[in-house]
Amino acid sequence: MTARPARPEDEPWRAAGLDPRKLPRHVAIIMDGNGRWAERRNLPRSEGHRAGTEAVRRVIRASAPIGLSALTLYAFSTENWKRPSQEVESLWRLVPEVFERDLPEIREAGVRVRVVGDRGGLPEEVRTAVARAEAETAANTGMVVTFAINYGGRDEIVRAARRLAIEAKAGAIDPTAIDEAALAARLDTAGLPELDLLVRTGGEMRVSNFLLWELAYAEFVSVPVLWPDFTADDLYRALAEYQRRDRRFGGVAT
Ligand code: FPP
Repeated sequence: MTARPARPEDEPWRAAGLDPRKLPRHVAIIMDGNGRWAERRNLPRSEGHRAGTEAVRRVIRASAPIGLSALTLYAFSTENWKRPSQEVESLWRLVPEVFERDLPEIREAGVRVRVVGDRGGLPEEVRTAVARAEAETAANTGMVVTFAINYGGRDEIVRAARRLAIEAKAGAIDPTAIDEAALAARLDTAGLPELDLLVRTGGEMRVSNFLLWELAYAEFVSVPVLWPDFTADDLYRALAEYQRRDRRFGGVAT
């Protein structure tokens, strides 16, 4: 049987006009709009989060094959504890459920799972599920999917600074030698590629304490779609927008 030529619908990222040579290596997403999605349907907010997990799955499926190195998803912020306890508890039930449901596919796809944030504050079942997902995918060499859970950008920087202080006090590091690389190496995101693109769904233009250090030179794209409605095509459109940007990193256009 002769192979038929690839059609655009086989590779939707090609149909979106993406240039495979100019893809970002590391994309982060603020998955906003679950609550509004549910309220518009007269459903409890927890149903919006549940629908949001389908979008998580779609986006992982859409990103791995195009060759992104890293995808970082904001699942629960250090400020989200202020929400009604029922909503918070529904999120804590959802995380182990999703890991249980999707781990086989993630493992098969060669994706490595990583979690950033303050684990100490997580419920036991969530901590166990997260540790298991990390352990079972640790040897995978494909895209790294990082879930930010109980994560705050300021909190991440404070914890890194605390680590440096402890090392300095113990004499393991010279305080005058502390530079950007030393701090970055102690962040939760150490080892991930530089962040290239932050996408926020739900139409807002805020950073919401996400990846404050890592965002230094990232491009920002706000998408009006609510997270549970976010599709592979929406992701490819955001990547196409990124490819139209002129990144100068503080320099001038060449
Ligand atoms: C923001 O929408 C969304 C969240 C706080 C939770 C995001 C969580 C998921 C998509 C599930 C994640 C699953 C795993 C496995 C980690 P919002 O509730 O603030 O929406 P609103 O702005 O419309 O109220």
